[in-house]
Amino acid sequence: MKKIMIAALTLGTTVSANMAMAADITPEQSRQQFVDYFKAKSPSIEFNEYGNGVYNYNPDQRMQWQAAEEFPPYLDFIDAGEALWEKDQAVYENCFGKDVTKVRVMYPRFNEKTQKVETLEGQINQCRTDAKLKPFGWKKGDIANLSAYLAYQARGQQIDVKIESEGAKKAFLDGQAYFSKPRGQFGLACAECHVYNAGRRARGNTLGPALGQTSHVPMYRAKWKELGTLHRRYEGCDKNMRIVPAKVQSETYKNLEFFEAYMANGIEINGPGYRE
Ligand code: HEC
Repeated sequence: MKKIMIAALTLGTTVSANMAMAADITPEQSRQQFVDYFKAKSPSIEFNEYGNGVYNYNPDQRMQWQAAEEFPPYLDFIDAGEALWEKDQAVYENCFGKDVTKVRVMYPRFNEKTQKVETLEGQINQCRTDAKLKPFGWKKGDIANLSAYLAYQARGQQIDVKIESEGAKKAFLDGQAYFSKPRGQFGLACAECHVYNAGRRARGNTLGPALGQTSHVPMYRAKWKELGTLHRRYEGCDKNMRIVPAKVQSETYKNLEFFEAYMANGIEINGPGYRE
């Protein structure tokens, strides 16, 4: 990310001090404040529209995106994902149950036994290795295709992440800290771009809202010409911030996903989504 873009963003830093994303309030209070913040910022955007990210802010981009979603380039990848499911169906049904429409909506979730967050992609590979199958690569290809098939089957159901224990709250707070802490040579936080400066343009990019960032995953990107996982995208933004990214499916990114998904509770799953 170029210097000018960073300069354009420094205005937002004063605001960030005001927004409470503190450890002394409950996750539910944090979520409510987060939603209220976006509502106050853009009163005309309907809550569920946050599943469509940056296209809420830019009418030209929105038209192009709507045209792309009419004949979406990701349909073949969903078909490939379905074929993967069918190939090892007995194995997956053993892990996730027989109803393919109910898998996406289970994740991310906090496993009280292991005291760790589980993601859909993480559990797909866990399921495979438990059954002595070769795990998929993490960021694209088979894992993204299978994840996209499961997201597509779950479309229309609301994100519903639960925090019901101290351990889950700790994971949420860890994700929140990663999201809001300034890092790297530019001292940027995710929140700087995706909360305080959401909707602003910086070097030809409009910055999308953090609210709803997990609704449409995995995403098809025109830039990639294929699907990629949410963690692939996290890695890209970390690299743009000039920091060494965390590892995809590491505890750090899993907690970040847990935090972001909890904040998006109530938004409908609409994956896979098309992005530029
Ligand atoms: C310097 C600004 C900047 C920072 C800091 C930044 N991003 Fe981004 N990010 C972007 C831009 C620009 C895009 C593409 C437009 C959009 O969708 O928001 C993007 C896209 C994304 C997307 C895809 C959104 C979608 O709708 O598909 C995710 C997820 C994301 N960022 C997460 C993060 C996270 C998590 C962090 C912190 C680790 C972060 N970003 C930090 C600029 C930034």
